[in-house]
Amino acid sequence: KFKVIYDTDPGVDDAMALYFALAHPDIDVVGITTTFGNVTVEQAATNALYLTAIANREVPVTKGVQTPWYKAPGTPPDFIHGGDGLGNLPSRVATSNQLDPRSSAQFIVDMARANPGEITLVAVGPLGNLATALKLEPNLPELVREVIIMGGTVIEPGNVSPVAEANIWNDPHAADLVFTAGWKLTMVGLDVTHKVVTELAFFKKLAEHHKHIATDTLHHAVEFYATFYSGLHAHLALNPGCFAHDLLAFIYLVNPELFTIENGRVRVGTEGLSQGQTMMNRRDYIAYPHPGWGAEIPSTQVCMQVDSAGCLAVFEKALMSNWLK
Ligand code: BDR
Ligand code: CA
Repeated sequence: KFKVIYDTDPGVDDAMALYFALAHPDIDVVGITTTFGNVTVEQAATNALYLTAIANREVPVTKGVQTPWYKAPGTPPDFIHGGDGLGNLPSRVATSNQLDPRSSAQFIVDMARANPGEITLVAVGPLGNLATALKLEPNLPELVREVIIMGGTVIEPGNVSPVAEANIWNDPHAADLVFTAGWKLTMVGLDVTHKVVTELAFFKKLAEHHKHIATDTLHHAVEFYATFYSGLHAHLALNPGCFAHDLLAFIYLVNPELFTIENGRVRVGTEGLSQGQTMMNRRDYIAYPHPGWGAEIPSTQVCMQVDSAGCLAVFEKALMSNWLK
């Protein structure tokens, strides 16, 4: 089983991804480290606790960074994920899961030290927790097995600016640190996530199949998220659904053969018009040596193509399986 720390800002697609991970027989979620992003970090932690509790799971949940490293904090996008991050749930049942008192970064460091070479970090929000963990433990890249992030884009246009994807844009300095840290890093960005649409009809079917508060909650959240995407993309207005961004980071973990990878050095624009842009050196030859692109910059595996039907089949099989008690 893959031992995973899930670094997340739930978030509707974050919730989708979490339930996939909890349902999948080869994934063991050993901790959920939350960050600001789609919602405040307080709300992200509340949502992570809630989503695990209603699925009858006890997974350690920590609270992490509340703001970006350097840039001024923005306002969470309540029109995308709802003010509560889960599509404005009409009510919540009482639950008793408690936060782990450690910071997200400290939790990552403690787990990596206790399980050297075994932990996979799946990070699907702004990258401040990973960057902070790197500062706390400079040997972290040798201690973790691999890092898979949902974020960035190479060819596909950005989703918060013409060139920037939201997670990277939310904390570009932290992201650049993560891209240059020297761990085995895979970027699952908009180049692939904009090719995979999960249909609202599936979540309805899932809620009917399992008849459970967890699947009802997910269905409600996806309905809100799909409405947002329907306003943006004509094909999603015709057939309601949404991009499953964060989910694809987990699908890459268990089924990497569904993705086509390109290797190259990736840096992040931190200022001005290129803020949050993931820039990839896609050719070996550069006419003039440029500082910041030297051999000291490690290579990132960047997902460029995806078998989208294959991903949906993997997702649906796991969620329809008998994972809810
Ligand atoms: C990313 O931004 C967030 O809104 C989603 O949860 C996902 O992690 C997509 O750009
Ligand atoms: Ca996210």
